[in-house]
Amino acid sequence: LIESNTCKSLNCFFHIFLSLIQPTQSQGCDGILCVLTEKIDAQLLEAAGPNLKVVSTMSVGFDHLSLDELKKRGIRVGYTPDVLTDCVAELTVALLLATSRRLIEATHEAKTGGWGTWRTLWLCGHELANSTVGILGLGRIGVAIAERLKPFKVKKFIYTDVAPRPELANMIEAEYVSFDELAKQSDFLAVCCALTQETHGICNWNLFSKMKKNAIFINTSRGGVVNQEDLYEALSTGLIAGAGLDVTTPEPLPTHHPLFTLKNCVILPHIASASYTTRNAMSALAANNLLAGLRGEPMPKELKL
Ligand code: DGY
Repeated sequence: LIESNTCKSLNCFFHIFLSLIQPTQSQGCDGILCVLTEKIDAQLLEAAGPNLKVVSTMSVGFDHLSLDELKKRGIRVGYTPDVLTDCVAELTVALLLATSRRLIEATHEAKTGGWGTWRTLWLCGHELANSTVGILGLGRIGVAIAERLKPFKVKKFIYTDVAPRPELANMIEAEYVSFDELAKQSDFLAVCCALTQETHGICNWNLFSKMKKNAIFINTSRGGVVNQEDLYEALSTGLIAGAGLDVTTPEPLPTHHPLFTLKNCVILPHIASASYTTRNAMSALAANNLLAGLRGEPMPKELKL
């Protein structure tokens, strides 16, 4: 689309590479439009060569981009924050409820004959009313999740981050706590942090072993923040009550992965931003970032390197 329409109308002859990228295919590109599954690393940038001016990713996450390598080469980067916040928050709430109220198990039972007479404790889960919700990494998405959960009568929001974020926290009356306190106090723990060297594997045995037995762990950020072996142990031994994951390592998660054997683990195939409206908005923003980068103009959403 960009090559055939926009570039002609711009009266230019940019060589733009669209997914899926093999390093050698990027040779001579002026711009790259990529998605979150494509690694933009030194090898690819070397292969692209000196023409490359801009990389535009159709994602808010940018852990697939080697920022140091991009910066070194003076390549500008566009990404797609804000336009997906509502959609991701909505899916996070849906996943939280599906996990805590055991909806996947319940539909399976209903469909496969497990639905017998009404039983007092059958398929009981955990409710949001009077609960403490913890947010690991408070940003726009964390705030949007809390805003949606508030009407469920959540008692308290707590969060942790590298430092307090009072402006965002005030919007949802969230209290800043330490990482350990977040683990100890949360009935529901939503992971919203970016994947960085600091957050890689941060949700591990150290976290799970401090959590409540009734706690529900939700991750819609990146699979890399979770140690999946530790999560499996925590779920299979009843250390925590359940987990809802929209992101895993790797993606797709192999169908034989142990996490798929657990009833208390709900796994989605990275669909948090998958609404027609949001994906259209992300595509348009990514394309506009790319074009602005190629023209040497300010990008609608540029990542400061
Ligand atoms: C992103 O854009 O980084 C999100 O993971 C999409 O769901």
